[in-house]
Amino acid sequence: MPWNRRHLLTLEDLSLAEIDQIHATAAAFKKILGRSVKKVPALRGKTIVNLFLEPSTRTRISFEMAAKRLSADVISFDAASSSTTKGETLRDTAQNIQALNADLIVLRHSASGSPLYLSRVLDIPVVNAGDGAHEHPTQGLLDTFTMREHLGSLRGRKVVILGDILFSRVARSNIHALVKLGAAVTLVGPSTLVPDWFTALGAKVSHDLKSALADAEVVMLLRIQHERQSSSHFPSLGEYTGMFGLNQTRAGWLNPKAIIMHPGPINRGVEIDSDLADGPRSVILEQVTNGIAVRMAVLYLCSGGQPEAVTTNAT
Ligand code: CP
Repeated sequence: MPWNRRHLLTLEDLSLAEIDQIHATAAAFKKILGRSVKKVPALRGKTIVNLFLEPSTRTRISFEMAAKRLSADVISFDAASSSTTKGETLRDTAQNIQALNADLIVLRHSASGSPLYLSRVLDIPVVNAGDGAHEHPTQGLLDTFTMREHLGSLRGRKVVILGDILFSRVARSNIHALVKLGAAVTLVGPSTLVPDWFTALGAKVSHDLKSALADAEVVMLLRIQHERQSSSHFPSLGEYTGMFGLNQTRAGWLNPKAIIMHPGPINRGVEIDSDLADGPRSVILEQVTNGIAVRMAVLYLCSGGQPEAVTTNAT
């Protein structure tokens, strides 16, 4: 099946076949990342602009590395160094980047729907690097890629997402991908942060940590997204940790082979204890590493590349 999508805006509107194509392309690109020359010429001559108007460590560096591994020219800038601080609109900023002959824009923005908006006013592809509490599609893709590396097929596998689901774009993207991949997804946390209406996305909702974690093969922790909350959704961080923080005792309820995931940034001692985040079951840093190959696949495909045409010959 040819790839014919120019933008990556959400995982909600991706098909299972498209997720499979991205993962297969990422697996091919991952092979070059272990070589001494970690570069292919797939996007030579293209210019990618990373427009990050919200803070980021992992996603921004990962997109930049992915573009460089594909031999693209890459320009990254953030809110503090852009003319948005002088009142320029997102639309004007993006249209100027397009006028400077950029070939693709990667956008992180606090407003849900901003990548969709840009995709409608620009002629070049737009990749969503996280929009408000809406979606973080490349994070969902790299998380499910990492799960598949460890578990193989996700069909019927019990995956628990624990924490602040309500304000999490990572949770939404993962739910959409995992449901399409056939996983049995349980969302758990306080009822204020895990409302029942999430069942409409195809996941189970639970407020009972012990039964939710029982026999789970994957647990993904999410931090409390204070920056998106206008009021407190639980009495105190200490109380949250006491009821829902992952510690050694609670990790003992998981399937013995379960992997522990977190998209980062971690708040150690709040949603997860350090000995688990750094322990043998943690794949947190593998997620980060896989982000490069997955973002290479997304940049390549949205730039007009075809999955079957991937070449891993060095530059
Ligand atoms: N996981 C994630 O999006 O991290 P950053 O905010 O550091 O990019």
